Order: sequence, then C-alpha cells, then structure tokens
Amino acid sequence: MSLARSLLLRASRSRWLADQMSRRAFARRAVRRFMPGEDLSEALSACATLKAEGFGTVLTQLGENLTTVAEADAVRDHYLGLFDQIRSRGLPVHVSVKPTQLGLDLSADACAAHLLVLAGRAEATGSWLWLDMEDASYVDRTLGLYRSLRARHERVGLCLQAYLRRSPADLAALLPLRPAIRLVKGAYAEPAHIAFPDKRDTDLAFFDLSVKLLAAAAKGEAYAVLGTHDLTLLRRLTARASELGVKDGAYEIHMLYGIRSADQRALLREGRAVRTLISYGRSWFPWYMRRLAERPANVWFVVRSMW
Ligand code: FDA
Repeated sequence: MSLARSLLLRASRSRWLADQMSRRAFARRAVRRFMPGEDLSEALSACATLKAEGFGTVLTQLGENLTTVAEADAVRDHYLGLFDQIRSRGLPVHVSVKPTQLGLDLSADACAAHLLVLAGRAEATGSWLWLDMEDASYVDRTLGLYRSLRARHERVGLCLQAYLRRSPADLAALLPLRPAIRLVKGAYAEPAHIAFPDKRDTDLAFFDLSVKLLAAAAKGEAYAVLGTHDLTLLRRLTARASELGVKDGAYEIHMLYGIRSADQRALLREGRAVRTLISYGRSWFPWYMRRLAERPANVWFVVRSMW
C-alpha cells in the first residue's frame, strides 16, 4: 500500500480531523465533487436526473460507528421514510447501509432487528436493501446478518471485498443461498495477512471472483454486481459475461457518483445496466478520506478548493 494511501486511511479514523474538516467551507466545496449535497432532497433530485438518463441509483446516508442505540433507531426510521419516498416518487433507487450505522457495535440483536424491518420495507416498496462491507473485523458478523436477511427476503444484497484473502471461501459458502453480491476491491487499511497488499493481486482476485459470480448468474443462481471504476477489468468481464451467456439484467455495473461519469454514460450507451451510488449526509469525513485514498491525486482537488 502506498504511503499516501496509508496516511489518508489513518486520517479517516481521526475524530479531531473530522470535526475540523466538516466545518471548513473549502472542504465542503471539495466534497461536492463526490456528492450532490448533504441533504436527502439533493440526493433524490440527483436520482431523478440520473433516472431521466437511464441510470438506476443506490442511496446511502453517511455515518458509521454510532455511540447510542437511539441514534441507530433514528437511522432505521430515516431509511424507512426513504423507502416510502422512493416509491412515492417512482424512482429506481436501491438503498445501501453500513451495519455499524444501525448499531452493530452496540447491540447485534438490535442491528439485526433493524435490518429485518428495512428489508421488509425494501421489498414492500419494490426497492432493494444492500449491506456495505466495512473493515475486516466486521466481515463474520455482516455475513451472519446477510444470511438471516436472505432466509426471509429476496431483495437483499451484500458487498464482498476482493482484497480479502478469505473472499473466495466466503463467496463459495454464500452461493447456495442464491445471493445478490456486489463485488468491490475494498477500501480499508488491512494487514497483509488479511488483505492483499499488492493492487495487482486484488485486481486478479476481483476478476476470478467476478467470473464465479457471473457463472452463477448465468444459471439464475445469483445476482451479480460489478462495483468498480476499473474499465480494463470491466471490458474483460463484460466479454466473459457474454461468453457465459449471462442474460441482460442478470448483472449490473455499480459506480460511485462523480467518478468516471463520462464512462458511466458510455457504458449505458453500450446497453449495460449501470447504477450510480450516491452518498449524502453530514458525516462525510471518513468516507471522503477513503475516496481520497483510492486516488491520492484527488488531494490536489482539495488544495485547489482552498482558493
Ligand atoms: P481502482 O482503484 O483500480 O480504480 C480504477 C480507476 O477508477 C482509477 O484509475 C481512477 O481512474 C478511478 N477511480 C477510482 N477511485 C477513484 C476516486 N476515489 N476518485 C477518482 N477516481 C477514482 N468498499 C468497501 O470496502 N466496502 C463497500 O461496501 C464498498 N461499496 C462500494 C460500492 C460501490 C458501488 C463502489 C463502486 C465501490 C464501493 N467500495 C466499497 C469502494 C471500493 O472498495 C474501491 O475502494 C473503489 O471502488 C475504488 O476501486 P476501483 O474498483 O474503482 O478500482
């Protein structure tokens, strides 16, 4: 891992920096590159604009590692209201949540109960509930949460990270559930015995895992989502999907708002199903630091925003 990436990921865990940056106008200006606004109304307007162009979207409210059960209850209620708004506005929007934002650190049972309620509302409103994957210490618990959701609901998906050495085994264990999996490379700082330190190994693992997922999708046994901006990988994978006979609509490409927007449109024009993940909310600091760490050159954008 590069020094810049490692420093940015370390900074992402600093509450002091989060507090300082969240108050600075230049930082808020820089963040606008990756999010349409802090308010849900701005995120929903962006979903409507993208819908007009043919994109699906995924919404997520920023915030993780809560400190009180009441905060988790409020997050659950926020998302319940969001599912209702998605339906009433007729938007093709999914919702993605972090288990720690629903209180996983405070009460595993309360978190599981919140997620069940949300999965039920997702299904009732024609949407989907996705679970993000956080750092490696949460993987077992997040897999357990997904298993219990999947036992009762169809429209639930899970993120798996290709940089984790354990992911091939996790994917194999999940496939009998006929899962919906969003594969990503992985955004956290992990030790080398847990995650590949070399990006090339992560890219290879992403390809291999995607092919397994697409093969299951071809048989109708999984819903595959390729969550990456890596166009070289995507070209190889869309070609492999055609070879495997994966039907249109049996897999999607997900990318983040503000990253490779022109390429997102080009993929759409080629007939791919593309969904853009839009984040909103005031607790953007750790998430924003992870976006900078993915491409440390982005830091110059922050510096330019100071003037
Ligand atoms: P890679 O890092 O190789 O980037 C490929 C190219 O994309 C770069 O060369 C650059 O051009 C562009 N690019 C990538 N990131 C950029 C950035 N921040 N700014 C500007 N350009 C950039 N992670 C996780 O651990 N848990 C999760 O739940 C999720 N969820 C998630 C959902 C979705 C829809 C996406 C797209 C990603 C995630 N991630 C995630 C993040 C993921 O793990 C990963 O860190 C990023 O997607 C960056 O990796 P790429 O696959 O894009 O490849």
